[in-house]
Amino acid sequence: MGNKHPERPARNAGNTPERGRFITLEGSEGVGKSTNLARVVAWLEARGLEVVQTREPGGTPRAEAIRRLLLDPDEPEPLDDDAELLLVFAARAQHLARVIRPALERGAWVVCDRFTDATFAYQGGGRGLNSARITELEAFVQQGLAPDLTLLLDMPMGAAQQRLEQRGERRDRFEQERAEFFESVRQAYLARAAQAPERITIIDASLTREAVGEQIEAVLEARVTAWRS
Ligand SMILES: Nc1ncnc2c1ncn2[C@@H]1O[C@H](COP(=O)(O)OP(=O)(O)OP(=O)(O)O)[C@@H](O)[C@H]1O
Ligand SMILES: [Mg+2]
Repeated sequence: MGNKHPERPARNAGNTPERGRFITLEGSEGVGKSTNLARVVAWLEARGLEVVQTREPGGTPRAEAIRRLLLDPDEPEPLDDDAELLLVFAARAQHLARVIRPALERGAWVVCDRFTDATFAYQGGGRGLNSARITELEAFVQQGLAPDLTLLLDMPMGAAQQRLEQRGERRDRFEQERAEFFESVRQAYLARAAQAPERITIIDASLTREAVGEQIEAVLEARVTAWRS
């Protein structure tokens, strides 16, 4: 496309690199986010892109300390739902300031395991917090920054729980929740996807590793080609 403002330099004409793209993976416990994150990163790197791989809550030392507060299954003191929500956004503010914004500004692509859709799903859907309040915090902390593409890995919760059992790791504070909690999380994710179909693509995560990976690569192929043309 030509430069519509000849008096101004084209956005990418000087030393300022074109902003990178921000891709997130979402879905409830055990659906394969971490497994497929590696695949997304490898796919982008194979196309010569600089990629920053990160996760939420966390992604910086202080934000990872907040993650431990959020997930610790051994702390007997119950965590207040509002405190949980604010901790999630405190970690996010730190992660945005220290990792995500600097990476995008220098032109790197950021691939993140969970982001704010997870807050709407877990603290909104799971805990039942008012989503209008989450929207306010989102605006305050993100100042308009949002993922360019979100891959929502979706599958029935029973099968995902079986995968977690096979993985055999100790369960964190969220993973110890009841079945109804996870069903609410799943439904909240699907409702988000229905509201933002241009950003959130639903991936059938119940299939084999290979078939899930192929769906994801097809989405990347279509999106990345469109962005780069
Ligand atoms: N398509 C698949 N079919 C069968 N097993 C899978 C598939 N994808 C991932 N797994 C396995 O299921 C388990 C959970 O996958 P993974 O850790 O990637 O999920 P996750 O969404 O990151 O989970 P968490 O929410 O706990 O971080 C792992 O043991 C992984 O090897
Ligand atoms: Mg994971």
